[in-house]
Amino acid sequence: MPDQTATPARPRVSAKAATFTESVIREMTRLALAHDAVNLAQGFPDFACPPQLKEAAKAAIDADVNQYAITWGAAEFRAAVAAKVAGTYPGWSVDPDTEICVTCGSTEAMIAAMLALVDPGDEVIMFEPFYENYGPDAILSGARPKLVRLHAPDWTIDEAELRAAFSDRTRAIVLNTPHNPTGKVLRRAELDLVAELCQRHDALVFTDEIYEHIHYLGPGGHIPPATVPGLEDRTVTINALSKTYAVTGWRVGWTIAPAAYTSAIRKVHDFLTVGAAAPLQAGGVAAMNLPQTYYVDLARQYRERRDLLCAALARTGFTFREPDGAYYVMCDTRALDPAGDDVAFARRLATGIGVATVPGSSFFADPADGRHIIRFGFPKKLTTLEAAARRLARLTPAATPATPG
Ligand SMILES: Cc1ncc(COP(=O)(O)O)c(C=O)c1O
Repeated sequence: MPDQTATPARPRVSAKAATFTESVIREMTRLALAHDAVNLAQGFPDFACPPQLKEAAKAAIDADVNQYAITWGAAEFRAAVAAKVAGTYPGWSVDPDTEICVTCGSTEAMIAAMLALVDPGDEVIMFEPFYENYGPDAILSGARPKLVRLHAPDWTIDEAELRAAFSDRTRAIVLNTPHNPTGKVLRRAELDLVAELCQRHDALVFTDEIYEHIHYLGPGGHIPPATVPGLEDRTVTINALSKTYAVTGWRVGWTIAPAAYTSAIRKVHDFLTVGAAAPLQAGGVAAMNLPQTYYVDLARQYRERRDLLCAALARTGFTFREPDGAYYVMCDTRALDPAGDDVAFARRLATGIGVATVPGSSFFADPADGRHIIRFGFPKKLTTLEAAARRLARLTPAATPATPG
């Protein structure tokens, strides 16, 4: 007879996996689907990618480019990335043979870089509010995330706080410019400060520039940290096709770093994923060859989307700092949600009003810091944003449903 008094075995998971929870953003997407809500939660476009990318990927499949690419990326794609970088940022020269590793999205690029270059016991500085992957990336690498606050409403860096975060345990700092979720774009003076501190403490920079072309500051608005004096030899630049070319499902990204670092990243990447999809790297060549006008149009279209959504949010009663870059708006909800429960408020918005957002607490280590914030994303057609605006017009403090739907 089985022993009825024995406690049932609890499935054991690793201590590392137990330290983080499932992404709330994906939960909000599921809620949006279940309630037919306009999904302004997860940051993916609802419009088509440029046809040149599709044609190139289809042609590659038809030409039987269907086996493993070279683990660190097809030569033609790496050459195209290097040429695009040189064309966009004159003076920044990247050797495609030794300084690029093509990865499965910038998501893999960041964790491959950390696993390759960070040791257990190291500290990795990151700004808060944060994009939710960086903390788990550091933890999976055995390192300790060290948070530095971006201060609302303008998301400023307090110089003294940043200086105090650096120590002889610091191995790296994670930058993300333009920034998800705040829309902050790092300015020259801020990058100079980072350069000074990284040199003093011999630290690396992992910089996620997936929104490099999505900003509202005009030409020269985005400064790649790798081009800042003092950071050239200590920067791993992380990027991807996902956002610039509206192909988040393709999972093609890359790192750019000095050869010694790239060689370590390539080894880790090989064991993680072997390589990114070969025919989609051919699509990536077409992306890199798009004319300059593509990027001008991209920024203009995103400005239109931002302005439409921001006007609707202001009419609804949210307060926020208009983003300088990326495609998110962090909103203060105090006027509409005096209870200050971001998760309940976001659920009510999704189920009662029909607009899915991300609760602010998912961007902070201490959920209390995000209780009066929700994040809207606008990588959407104008018609989608107009639909969201119409639904938001129904949201007033009095009209807010009292219970989660
Ligand atoms: C800052 C940031 N980095 C990385 C990613 C994911 O990029 P990828 O699709 O290239 O893995 C996102 C997606 O939202 C993001 O906002």
